[in-house]
Amino acid sequence: MRANDLKKVVSRVSAGAKLIVVSNREPVVHERVAEGVKVLRPASGMVTAIEPIVRAVGGTWIAHGSGSADRLVVDERGRIGLPQDDPKYVLQRVWLTRAEEDGYYYGLSNTAIWPLCHHVYTRPHFSRRDWETYRCVNKRFRDAVLAEAGEEPVIVFIQDYHLALLPRLIKEARPDIKVIQFWHIPWPNRETFRICPFAEELLDGLLGNDLLGFHIQYYCRNFLGTVDRGIESRVDYEQFRAFRGGRPTYVRAFPISVDYEQIGQDVESPIVGQQMDGFLKELGESNGRKLFVGADRVDYTKGIPERLRAFDMMLNCHPELKSRVTLVQLAAPSRTHIEAYRKLNDELDDLVDEINWRHQTETWMPVRFLRAHYDYYAVLAAYRMAHVAVVTSLHDGMNLVAKEFVSSRTDGDGILILSKYTGAARELADALLVNPYDIDQLADVMYSAYLMPEDARRQRMEKMRARVAKSNVYRWGGRIFEEAERTLSHKVS
Ligand code: F6P
Repeated sequence: MRANDLKKVVSRVSAGAKLIVVSNREPVVHERVAEGVKVLRPASGMVTAIEPIVRAVGGTWIAHGSGSADRLVVDERGRIGLPQDDPKYVLQRVWLTRAEEDGYYYGLSNTAIWPLCHHVYTRPHFSRRDWETYRCVNKRFRDAVLAEAGEEPVIVFIQDYHLALLPRLIKEARPDIKVIQFWHIPWPNRETFRICPFAEELLDGLLGNDLLGFHIQYYCRNFLGTVDRGIESRVDYEQFRAFRGGRPTYVRAFPISVDYEQIGQDVESPIVGQQMDGFLKELGESNGRKLFVGADRVDYTKGIPERLRAFDMMLNCHPELKSRVTLVQLAAPSRTHIEAYRKLNDELDDLVDEINWRHQTETWMPVRFLRAHYDYYAVLAAYRMAHVAVVTSLHDGMNLVAKEFVSSRTDGDGILILSKYTGAARELADALLVNPYDIDQLADVMYSAYLMPEDARRQRMEKMRARVAKSNVYRWGGRIFEEAERTLSHKVS
C-alpha cells in the first residue's frame, strides 16, 4: 500500500469526517539556538510512523508544544501548517505548564506507566499527585479535540499511553465521535498491571475507544485478560472485544512500520553521503574498519549497557579484533529529569570510560558514544556506515530502528542483531536474534556477525527488506482504518 491508497481508505472510512490525531509528542520541535530557531524531529518511533500518515491524509495533529521556540512560530491559536515549506496538515499545539509536564509526562506517564508496561526490572512509582495532573492534562487534550471538532463530524486517532483517559472523556462529551487509539508500548499481563493504584480508571478510559490497537496479538490478549479481571465488563474472546456500559471496544494487533520507500529514496540523497564523510572524519575512522552501530534514545529499556558489555567481552575473547571494530552509539538524550534515566546516563559514562580505557590504542577508540539529537539524515548515514546494526532492547513494543535500518540498506548489505524481546523480532526472523540479558551469547553473536560472509549477509538482508517493503507504514494505517470500518459497522450482539 502507498500513501495515496491510504488516503483513499481513510477518506472512505471517515466519510467526510475530519481526521484529528492526538499525541503527547509533536512531529517537530522548534528550539531556540544562537542562530535563531532550529527545527528538530524528535527521536520517537511514534513520530516516525505517524508523520507520513498524517502528511498523506491531512487533518489536524494535536500535541504538546514542548520546544523552547514553539510559541514563536505558531499563530494566535497555537497552530502551524506542516511541513512549513509545503503544508499538508495542521499542528495544533497544546501548552502545558512546567508542573503539568512534570506530573503528567515525567510523572505518571514515564515513572509509572512506562516501567509498568515494560518488563525490565525497573520499578514503577505511583503518586496520587501525578495521577491528578495526568487527569487534568488528559482533560486539556479533550478540550483541544472538542474545540478542533466544533460541530463537525470528526474521527479521532489517539497515540499512546500518555492519553489513556482521553477516549472516555471524548465519548462522554461527544458519543458520536469515532475514537481509535494505538498503544505504542507493550501491555503487560494482568498480575503486573494490577499493582497500579489507578488501574481501573485507566482501563475505563481505554474502553472509551471504539478500536484499540497494539503491536502484537500477545499484548491484545494481555489487555483483554487485564480488563476481564480488572473492571466490570464483558469480555468476548471470540471477537476480541470488551463491552463496558453495553458498548464494545474492539482490540486488534497492528504491527507498526516505517515508510520503506521514502527511506530508500532519502538514503540515496547527497546529504547522506556528506553526513557519512563527516562522521568518518569526526570519528577518525577509515572505511576499512567494521562499525557496529546503535541508535537509540537513552532509555533503560533499550539494553545499551548490555550491548556495551557484550562488545567489551567480544574484544576480551578475540583480541585480534582490536583496531578492526568500533561500536558507534548515537544516543539521543531522553527524560533526563527522571532519576532512573540520570542513573542510566551515569552508568553509561562509566562503562564507556572503562571499556575504552581497557582496550584503546593510540590510534583507535573502541566505543564512540555520541550523546546528541542526530537528525534524520545523520541517522540514515549511520545506518549506511554500519557493518552491523545492534538493537538490544530488553523489552520493546516494536522498535522501528530495526525497520528503518533494513529500509535504509538499498545496497543489500548489512547485518541486524535484534533482541528477541522486540515486536520487530516476530517479523524479522532473518536478523540475528539475541537475548540481551545473556551477555556471553550476545558477544558470540557479535563475533559471528563480524565474520559473516557477504553472501550470507545479503541473503538475510534481502528477506528482511522484502518483509518491510510489504508491511510498510501505509499498510499499517490502512489496516487500522479498514478494521475500524469493519468493526464499527458490526451489529453489536
Ligand atoms: O515508541 C514508544 C514511545 O513511547 C513513543 O510513543 C514516544 O514518542 C517515544 O517512545 C519517545 O518517547 P518520548 O516521546 O517520551 O520522547
